[in-house]
Amino acid sequence: MKIDVNGRGHLMIGGADAVELAKRFGTPLYVFDEARIRNMMRVYKSALDREYGGHGKVLYASKAFSCLAMYKIAQSEGLGADVVSGGEFYTAVSAGFPACDVCMHGNNKTLEELKYALDNKIGTVVLDSQIEADVLDVLAAERNIVQDVLIRINPGVEAHTHEYVQTAKTDSKFGFSVSDGAALRMTAHVAGKNSLRFMGYHCHIGSQIFEKQSFAAAASKVLDFMAIAKHAGYEAEVLNLGGGFGVWYNSDDPELGASDYEAFIKTVTDEIKRKCGELGLKLPYLELEPGRSIVGEAGTTLYTVGAIKEIPGIRKYVAVDGGMFENPRYALYKSKYTVLLAGRAGEKCTEKVTVAGKCCESGDIIAVDAPLPEAMTGDIMAVLTTGAYNYSMASNYNRNPVPPAVLVCDGEADYIVKPQTYEDMIRNDAIPERLK
Ligand code: LLP
Repeated sequence: MKIDVNGRGHLMIGGADAVELAKRFGTPLYVFDEARIRNMMRVYKSALDREYGGHGKVLYASKAFSCLAMYKIAQSEGLGADVVSGGEFYTAVSAGFPACDVCMHGNNKTLEELKYALDNKIGTVVLDSQIEADVLDVLAAERNIVQDVLIRINPGVEAHTHEYVQTAKTDSKFGFSVSDGAALRMTAHVAGKNSLRFMGYHCHIGSQIFEKQSFAAAASKVLDFMAIAKHAGYEAEVLNLGGGFGVWYNSDDPELGASDYEAFIKTVTDEIKRKCGELGLKLPYLELEPGRSIVGEAGTTLYTVGAIKEIPGIRKYVAVDGGMFENPRYALYKSKYTVLLAGRAGEKCTEKVTVAGKCCESGDIIAVDAPLPEAMTGDIMAVLTTGAYNYSMASNYNRNPVPPAVLVCDGEADYIVKPQTYEDMIRNDAIPERLK
């Protein structure tokens, strides 16, 4: 990926010097480039408008990175949002995001989450089980409303991605399978509910996918099913194809530009138009839920290099002040990242090192065999493409505080997530009387 380096050889992010950001805000630090986030939102929105006559909506998949400022940005760019928990919905609502533009997912939403969603007038609930339909119908009736719902279906498309982020293969906890008739039975079940309005179908085939044809194949299979459902008397108006477009993390990945993401949209919308013509269906309202491709490459994590340990003939460990508590993706998926020294970004790489975190666990690794110039204690290290599923999957493992996040725009940086303190860490702890 083309990186921006200033005259001092420092990495630049959104017009700000990364080393200066590290000095000012401390490390570890998540840095987000606002222009890149907005640009990706615009790419999707304008492609959908152009290729599909605006008959649809882009919903930011906020699980990738959820905080008040992100919902503000999504709202100002005219996007909706998808949420997967009461906590994400609460964050959206607290940011003043219009609840009617929010869609809630989850294979096992709790009663509290469903009540909270209805009480705050959520736009759409995506149903993922029959019991959920039954409960939601009662809750909606109690509130004298008719709730718009989609049904999550599983078209059985296998996309090439990590097993844990693949979701629409037949053996999945998500969705009603099309092949065994479960999807149609659920449609009939929902259509029989007085307080639910059946709007259509949702499917999500997985994440970090580069093959455009996988999305077209999913669209095609869902449309085949929509024709069957229509024949059975259930006409779907909405087709939500989820998210999943891939991003660049390291030299194994393709580098995609705006035109490639536009091509994703065009491939999908062309297939929908072709298929609807063939099947005699009217064009559904199309929803897409990109998350990673909106925030992934816009994010960088900054660290300070600490201990360095060389095991002759085996490997060199360069430890940083972060780790799996703020980026668990290597531990979970063996994800590969691109690493550089933010203050020496123009220097040639002379060695391959393993970047380790500070947690008490051998698997606490950020990157294996990362090419770098010889790192020194005190260097600021930058790990690229950490905008998606890093902060959102962070924890307080080992009671490390979750790092703060800053948003950079035209060289100006502001907190969008403030630093956690040690006091925050014990805020919810309690000591039973007998231990006092
Ligand atoms: N819609 C639904 C229903 C989803 O389940 C997901 C992601 C998305 C949209 C957004 O997909 P994206 O455009 O971000 O690929 N923690 C994993 C990723 C899990 C993704 C789960 N669902 C990771 O770190 O790679």
